[in-house]
Amino acid sequence: MPDRARAAVLFVCLGNICRSPTAQGVFETLLEKSGYQGRVDVDSCGTGDWHVGKPPDPRSVSEAAARGYELGRLRARQLHVSDFHRFDYILAMDRANLATLRALCPDDFPGHLGLLLDLLPGGGGREVPDPYYGGSGGFATVLDLVEAASEALLAELQRRGFIAHGSA
Ligand code: 4NP
Repeated sequence: MPDRARAAVLFVCLGNICRSPTAQGVFETLLEKSGYQGRVDVDSCGTGDWHVGKPPDPRSVSEAAARGYELGRLRARQLHVSDFHRFDYILAMDRANLATLRALCPDDFPGHLGLLLDLLPGGGGREVPDPYYGGSGGFATVLDLVEAASEALLAELQRRGFIAHGSA
């Protein structure tokens, strides 16, 4: 078990306006519903800087709102090397962003760096597809994948002792 008081999770995509803010909002809501509010630091960022300071894409905001997730307060930021010192779990949405993360990751990073969907049983190597240039179906797919992965991430944090069953 890590010696810091709380677990810290960072979701990473390219622009930080579609996939990773959706993952942040979904996982934060799951933590709240599960009684773990404030027990895990949750953040998201992009490997690119094009949208820094911007709210999530309106298509992500409305698709998430339809399922009860509020993303409008979030603002995009770019990955910073200091993130490797702040987060226990750094979860990439696709292999391209994972490659960027691996190139920047210090050799002594003690946490978990991998694909978000690798947390799903049988999800090995799968990516959360980039919905930015596609139709609205892509945003629903992002939510489907992220909701499933969030359940798996919560179970992983419980299993690893970051948050104990019944300690909420
Ligand atoms: P995201 O989607 O990485 O899920 O936030 C994208 C957002 C913007 C761009 C690409 C992907 N873009 O090229 O501006």
